[in-house]
Amino acid sequence: MDQCFIDHVYAGCEYERIRKGPPDEFPALPPIPAGRYTDPEFQALEQRFIWQKSWLYACHMNELPHVGSYILWTKTNSPIMIVRTGEDEVRAFYNTCRHRGGPLVEDACGRVKGGFSCKYHGWAYDLEGRLKGVRDRRDFADLDMDNLHLVSVACERLGKWVFINEDPAAGSLEDALGPIARHWQQFDPDNIRHISSYGFDIECNVKVMLEAFFEVYHLKNIHPETANRFLDHSATNIILWPNGHSLMVTPHRNPDWVDPGTIGMQEFPGVSELPVKTNVSYNVFPNLVTPVAPTGIPFLTFWPVSHRSMRVECHWFAPDWGNGKRHSLWDKRIENFNSILQEDIELVQKIQRSIESPGFKGVRLSYQERRIYHWHEELDRRIGTEPIPVNLRVKPLLSTMIES
Ligand code: FES
Ligand SMILES: [Fe+2]
Repeated sequence: MDQCFIDHVYAGCEYERIRKGPPDEFPALPPIPAGRYTDPEFQALEQRFIWQKSWLYACHMNELPHVGSYILWTKTNSPIMIVRTGEDEVRAFYNTCRHRGGPLVEDACGRVKGGFSCKYHGWAYDLEGRLKGVRDRRDFADLDMDNLHLVSVACERLGKWVFINEDPAAGSLEDALGPIARHWQQFDPDNIRHISSYGFDIECNVKVMLEAFFEVYHLKNIHPETANRFLDHSATNIILWPNGHSLMVTPHRNPDWVDPGTIGMQEFPGVSELPVKTNVSYNVFPNLVTPVAPTGIPFLTFWPVSHRSMRVECHWFAPDWGNGKRHSLWDKRIENFNSILQEDIELVQKIQRSIESPGFKGVRLSYQERRIYHWHEELDRRIGTEPIPVNLRVKPLLSTMIES
């Protein structure tokens, strides 16, 4: 992250702190239609055009410790095997045998030696997904084994972070991430260490939970004793990026404030001053939110389960601490973070019951909540106008506010 960008962010925070209203060019935002949160048909559109066509964070290389280590990843509903195929190589395949669709692996994670064997009739594949053995091959007329490899899924890395995209026509991860790929170099992604991953099942539409992480308007009410005590939401600067991504920078009330729960922890060697002096939170469209800090970062990922249930997962990463145990403060730090998260979780489940009532007529958004509108605009761009019922569309209004 260069100094020019940091100065640009600080200037934006100062502008936000003293403004008396939205900027003149900011349009009044029409309500986001209620049905986008409650209609199973709309969720089916999201499934088809977003979840199966986006780069999605899947795992960290530390979770695949050996050649042959795999994770069976089902977040998009398709069974996908993510496999370490070499010292520094990872690939992804559908867990779907080319004979009659039998599974190659059944456990959520594990390790195979040399390749996979189908559970149904024993067809054998190597780690690269090549079909190597067919039992009773004499019974198959005209079997072209070279054309029966496991079907691969796009799988790319930013350092040790592994992303998946089910779209066979997906562009590169780096292009999709845009400026975020450059920004995250400060967290040393080639050496960043995985600490822990866990999740919570929540009874609400995935967007209800996700959108709580797109604004700090709610801090005073929902996190009065935690985040609101040290963050100055009136100076929050929001940057909208192409592809639906965005950045939110919230200054500390006291510029010298340091999270007491992290004092003494190791910092990323090349971290910029912005996450030191402010609260910086990225959204990678559609479902990755990361409030980064100089001593470690969580990836929060948000997954639909049904149109009215979801799962949030938290993946924690730290600067490489070398040999030995991780810093003793990590357990308490994660516990503190989870208690703030619980404040959001409690609320969103009540919101879900509310939005399913006739009292809910749509979501009204202010200037400081514009990341939410930006996200919905991107959703419609990805789906395309035609498949979306007229009464569920979002009018594109913010394109002039997107920074490249
Ligand atoms: S389905 Fe895999 S060998 Fe038959
Ligand atoms: Fe919150």
